[in-house]
Amino acid sequence: MATLDLFSPEPAVPDSLPYERVLALREELHRLGHAYYVLDAPLVPDAEYDRLFRELQELETQHPEWVTPDSPTQRVGGQVLDAFTSVRHAVPMLSIRTETDTESTGALAFDTRVRKELELNEGDTPVEYVAELKFDGLAMNLRYEQGVLVQAATRGDGEYGEDVTQNIRTIGQIPLRLPAGVPAVLEVRGEVYMRRDDFEALNERQRARIAAGEKGEKTFVNPRNAAAGAVRQLDPGIAAQRPLSFFAYGLGEVTPASEGGPVFGTHYAMLQTLKSWGFPVAAQVEIARGAPELIAYHQRIGVIRDNLSFDIDGVVYKVNSLALQQRLGFVTREPRWAVAHKYPAQEQLTTVLAIDVQVGRTGKLTPVAKLAPVFVGGVTVTNATLHNEDEARRKDVRVGDTVIVRRAGDVIPEVVSVLLEKRAGEAPPFTMPRICPVCQSAAVREEGEADYRCTGGLFCSAQRKQAILHFAQRRAVEVEGLGDKLVEQLVDANVIRNLPDLYRLGLSALASLDRMADKSAQNIVDALEKSKQTTLPRFLFGLGIRHVGEATAKELARHFGTLDAIMDADEEALLAVSDVGPIVAQSIRTFFDQAHNREVVEQLRACGVTWPEGAPADAGPKPLAGKTLVLTGTLPTLGRDAAKDLIEAAGGKVSGSVSKKTHYVVAGAEAGSKLDKANELGVPVLDEAGLLELLK
Ligand code: IVH
Repeated sequence: MATLDLFSPEPAVPDSLPYERVLALREELHRLGHAYYVLDAPLVPDAEYDRLFRELQELETQHPEWVTPDSPTQRVGGQVLDAFTSVRHAVPMLSIRTETDTESTGALAFDTRVRKELELNEGDTPVEYVAELKFDGLAMNLRYEQGVLVQAATRGDGEYGEDVTQNIRTIGQIPLRLPAGVPAVLEVRGEVYMRRDDFEALNERQRARIAAGEKGEKTFVNPRNAAAGAVRQLDPGIAAQRPLSFFAYGLGEVTPASEGGPVFGTHYAMLQTLKSWGFPVAAQVEIARGAPELIAYHQRIGVIRDNLSFDIDGVVYKVNSLALQQRLGFVTREPRWAVAHKYPAQEQLTTVLAIDVQVGRTGKLTPVAKLAPVFVGGVTVTNATLHNEDEARRKDVRVGDTVIVRRAGDVIPEVVSVLLEKRAGEAPPFTMPRICPVCQSAAVREEGEADYRCTGGLFCSAQRKQAILHFAQRRAVEVEGLGDKLVEQLVDANVIRNLPDLYRLGLSALASLDRMADKSAQNIVDALEKSKQTTLPRFLFGLGIRHVGEATAKELARHFGTLDAIMDADEEALLAVSDVGPIVAQSIRTFFDQAHNREVVEQLRACGVTWPEGAPADAGPKPLAGKTLVLTGTLPTLGRDAAKDLIEAAGGKVSGSVSKKTHYVVAGAEAGSKLDKANELGVPVLDEAGLLELLK
């Protein structure tokens, strides 16, 4: 195909007829749009796309008779509606049977049912399935005639849905026009959803609107609600500002084979074809043979669930062979060949029993909702953070309220929102105390800060406890077995007043504590002894200097080599360390300027805490400066921590998830979805040898 040079400021064919130019512009905008929205790999800068778009818009304004529904200019626009039109689905939209047993037995039960229906015996080959994600959005039927999107309809009751074409057109990932050769009638089914980052950004904008006093604006509870609200928005202009995405997972009506329609043997082949026609299909679609592979998929996705950029509430298993699907048929509105296998819900309702204020290591006061115990995200939750005063006020959580709590992965549980309609009591709004609830020192909120802090410092027993726990944690000097209950006892009994006191603990002092067996006391003494051999970064991090996290501690240690050099460095010298800005430099200086902090360091050393000291790092070039790497799988010789240390020492960063910004993925044995993601995004993949080569 001879392509026009669309990117030169002047049309390459100056005398090309405007109509031909319109066609060429549309063609190119479709291609660029697909690369941008579906492949997530833009081919040109946004400004370039905009320029072509505006040129097309202008030509269409001059010649309204040329406008077609599949023109890229028709994504936004349209009339504000009074109501949606009801449409009858040519093929009913079914639902899926839900397996609520979230354990592996759920997958087993499905496979057993399918095998029984197909009259398979134990020795017969395993059934082949396609395993997919169960997206947490809303089902949509997209109807294309002669390759042009003519209608988008919600599922509704399965038989009748609502015509939401105007709003669906605004979704960049949904093709308005399909390549030549697609069936004359093609209905593609899938899920409209909102990505988590788009959801956060939308709520951020909504909050700004509310703050600016705009009427009728609200924030959304979760991405699914936001997506549903956007799809059912009568004003397409507003819908266009609510960024939606789409994944295809099935078909509705399609031109039959007898009339030249496509013939698919398997569900998997059908999905691949949809992908080739320009529809987004989730990367996590996999073929799974028999129950064991379904179980493995369910577990694998369970692990990465929270790292996905969108919400899922389970996975879906479908019999792959379409012939077998037909043989299995339906029960009422649910096919026998598919099942949704859920995960434990991440949101639940419960009631607020009290709102406590906790004091952290740096004196930060955090309001915490005490909840009636509720099972959410796989654990029983009794506390949920309200973050700070503004958040607690914004959500207006009060004692006695019914609230939605959310716990996703390792994230600490939080209160999402209050069900205001269920508020019965007269409890007043939450207010932050102006004195520390533990030591009664003044609590102050500094200009520009979100947090109140207790000004008691180490006079405050809560801060003391947290400081000790921070020092003893695994990532600092690691005193195994020294948990919060024990520290609480030791501090409350005044056995320990500061960090060095830890190393003055005798066996008898420990053994005399409540509920402390001799054996456990000895274990703690041994763990304390072991913790004395540490490293400079761990020790430095353990001191709990404000703004000095693990990464900064490592950088400081690498740069200066010895603790004395760090303690004596002035702000200017500290600023020379990568990762250290003015706030961090000042915080380090302030810390070591206080005599009692130096005293703590001296006493810890006197108690025998030591680490190997090194020479200051030469300021030589860092081969991985500015580079982000992701580790996945098991490397042949390097442990994960060792690999991370090496990368960081070379100036690189190690991230937990693969994105377009990742420079390298280092993959070892049994690398999983991160490797797939790297291949998908074209991120270079290295093995251990390759990494070591880079580090040279
Ligand atoms: S297939 C005959 N696949 O789950 C099966 N549905 O009750 C038709 N859903 O609201 C649906 N992810 O929107 C299918 N990978 C997936 C899905 C999926 C989410 C939703 C769908 C519908 C519900 C089915």
